[in-house]
Amino acid sequence: MCGIMGYIGHREATNVILDGLAKHEYRGYDSAGIAVVKDNEILEVRTIGRVSVLAAKVAAAGLTGEAGIGHTRWATHGGVSETNAHPHISSDKRVVLVHNGIIENAREIRKDLELRGIKFHTETDTESAVQYLGYVYNGDPKEAIVKLTKRIRGAFALVIMFYDRPGEIWTARKGSPLVVGHANGEGFCASDPTALLEYTRVVWFMDDDEIARITRERCEFFDFAGVPHNKEPMHLDWDAAMTSRGEYPHFMLKEIHEQPDVVAHTLLGRIAGGGVDLSRELSWTPEEAKKWRKIHFVACGTSHYATVAAAYIMENLGKFDIRTEVASEYRYRNMTIDSETLAVFVSQSGETADTLHAARLAKSRGAKCLVITNVRGSTIDREVGESIITPAGPEIGVAATKTFTAQITALTLLGMYLAKLRGELPEDSERRLISALMDIPGKLSLLLAKEKEIEELARDFADARGFFFIGRGIAYPPALEGALKLKEISYLHAEAYPAGEMKHGPIALLDKELPVVALVPKNSLWEKTVSNIEESMARRSPIIALATEGDNEIKQYTDHVIFTPATEPELYPFVAVIPLQLFAYYIARQRGCDIDMPRNLAKSVTVE
Ligand code: G6P
Repeated sequence: MCGIMGYIGHREATNVILDGLAKHEYRGYDSAGIAVVKDNEILEVRTIGRVSVLAAKVAAAGLTGEAGIGHTRWATHGGVSETNAHPHISSDKRVVLVHNGIIENAREIRKDLELRGIKFHTETDTESAVQYLGYVYNGDPKEAIVKLTKRIRGAFALVIMFYDRPGEIWTARKGSPLVVGHANGEGFCASDPTALLEYTRVVWFMDDDEIARITRERCEFFDFAGVPHNKEPMHLDWDAAMTSRGEYPHFMLKEIHEQPDVVAHTLLGRIAGGGVDLSRELSWTPEEAKKWRKIHFVACGTSHYATVAAAYIMENLGKFDIRTEVASEYRYRNMTIDSETLAVFVSQSGETADTLHAARLAKSRGAKCLVITNVRGSTIDREVGESIITPAGPEIGVAATKTFTAQITALTLLGMYLAKLRGELPEDSERRLISALMDIPGKLSLLLAKEKEIEELARDFADARGFFFIGRGIAYPPALEGALKLKEISYLHAEAYPAGEMKHGPIALLDKELPVVALVPKNSLWEKTVSNIEESMARRSPIIALATEGDNEIKQYTDHVIFTPATEPELYPFVAVIPLQLFAYYIARQRGCDIDMPRNLAKSVTVE
């Protein structure tokens, strides 16, 4: 989605804003722009393309200032053009703003203002907001913004400046994320807190229906009626170094390599005396745990596949009745959601609109709700109130990698903890799994050492027409995630199927140009998966096997084998996913794709 950055202070505002926009680029990146207010005038530069193009244009134009606002766009209303790029200025040149979200009644406002003689210049929904502000502004920014919030419908994070108020940045939020920060005479606002890390750790996550006024001296907060309120700041616990690529060519590769540490950190503080202990985060009683007969996992994208993996893992741990639902469907189905439901919402960003709306629905139906997110203070975290935070650190690559591993670690612990509270987890199983979980970081490091081998394999297959990923049982969820990674960053068609389901249709597609990646761990389903491999071979599909170390028999079927370390059967998704992430990465690299910012995708999708 779009990224917003605002700055006021003693530094050159355009530099801070451009730096902040570059950190937001992963959210959306078809055009960008920046505006400053100087000597009662609004000055701006906009462009199609990346922030680097904007930076060159800003330098060429000699644009400077002490306060300003900037935006990277991911087009929703109106095509990709310089005219449609933000910031937008009112026709009377008195107000400038950037917007993330969608203004649903934009047409109606536009029609109304056009009748009053106001000329519109763009195809965007955003212009209706800025023109309206220009129309109602009479020297009192707060009053004008209060009027605007009453007039517009939809989702918005707005950052606004007025021509005669160079020392003030105003923001308003409903539905789209926005964080405000402050430090020694400098004020900031951004869509993503990672953009602020270099400057301050003192932040306020804006709530819905909230307005903020940012000056060099302070940040003040008001409701949509304009009434001020106190708001306590939060301290970000991320480190600025976490947002740099270091020596890696891509964030995705860096993040893949961080996974051993991420798993170790996620386990930290959640294991006591050889057993699982989440009591620091969850004040749940055994009675409650027994009451939640139904468990609903709700998420999108990679987070959804983490929940599918978790469901397979948990079904082996206790008597769970689990549903895994895509958030955008959960809302519109007529499922029984009640006080006997534990609804778990998993979201890396904590801002995904579909997941947030699903959480609101479950909460309103009386379900017990829990969030698993990577961003403390994110909207879902704050709204739901009970969370397990995955300490994966900021994930910049659009394709999620380390947060998947963090999520399955947290979800495995959650499953164990619930089973334990219910009295369904035998002590020896608990010890066996905890010890196996503690071995996972070491096993992931062994897998990362196979990077070269996987790169070579990817080179052999980069021209394939597409891929099938197959697996049975616990091998099926990582197949789903492997296929998703590949399609996201290489733009090749990749589909995952339960291996046994291939014969019911998809097998029709197989031929020598469509390789099959078979996840075939040495477990009780090995023989059955091998039969499916043979069926694929009979259709001349090349086979890439992900097999368990020591499985010599697999070599009879294919020369293309990646061996994964043996682990407890339930934990197979942990070891399967790294080779698949690396495989997708190197295929995409071979194909010259833009790995960290794949086309058409956004890291955090804050519209439905
Ligand atoms: C977007 C991203 C995906 C991500 C999904 C869910 O579609 O491109 O990579 O998995 O959102 O995001 P979340 O932040 O809720 O985990």
